[in-house]
Amino acid sequence: MSESDSTISLTLPALSIPDTSQETDSGRLVIPGQSIPEKRISIQPSLVADLRGLAREAAKSAYCPYSRFHVGAALVMADDPQSRLFSGCNVENASYGGTVCAERNAIFSAAAAGFRRLGVILVSTVDSLNGPVGDRSPCGICRQVIREFADERTLIVIDAGDEGLLGNVLDIDRLLPWGFQLEKS
Ligand code: THU
Repeated sequence: MSESDSTISLTLPALSIPDTSQETDSGRLVIPGQSIPEKRISIQPSLVADLRGLAREAAKSAYCPYSRFHVGAALVMADDPQSRLFSGCNVENASYGGTVCAERNAIFSAAAAGFRRLGVILVSTVDSLNGPVGDRSPCGICRQVIREFADERTLIVIDAGDEGLLGNVLDIDRLLPWGFQLEKS
């Protein structure tokens, strides 16, 4: 294995915020806290760099005549023995509501190819790179779709633009606290 193929370990820090509550004349209001334990994750920087290149390339195909905001996403599925790279771009619609984001297009391609476990997904908002992370991160609907195929090892990487910065790294609990869940039957 060459140096650039190596996997490194990273620590995602714990988040520990207790519940708080307040009595009101109409009843008690609870502000839920967060309790996410520290987690060691494995990440392959050369794979992240490849996904970033592919996502930026995919963004060139974005169909975004309304927003003019180009987005690309690229991913690898953990249950794909060949570790194929899938990509997608945002495709807008005159109805606006029919628009599908880059992340969902990439995930649905992988799902349609038969895969179910998301390994790493990288999103590149090429028109807002270098901005605050909120300007570069997946929308709420995409977070919920990422959650559908994510497990505790899934990584979400957000392109940070700067060539010296590989990206912002999150797991699903940190990307989407309180995400909706249903038992699969
Ligand atoms: N967009 C994405 O493709 N992914 C995101 O996570 C955020 C938003 C697209 C949707 C729309 O075409 C454009 O960016 C502006 O919202």
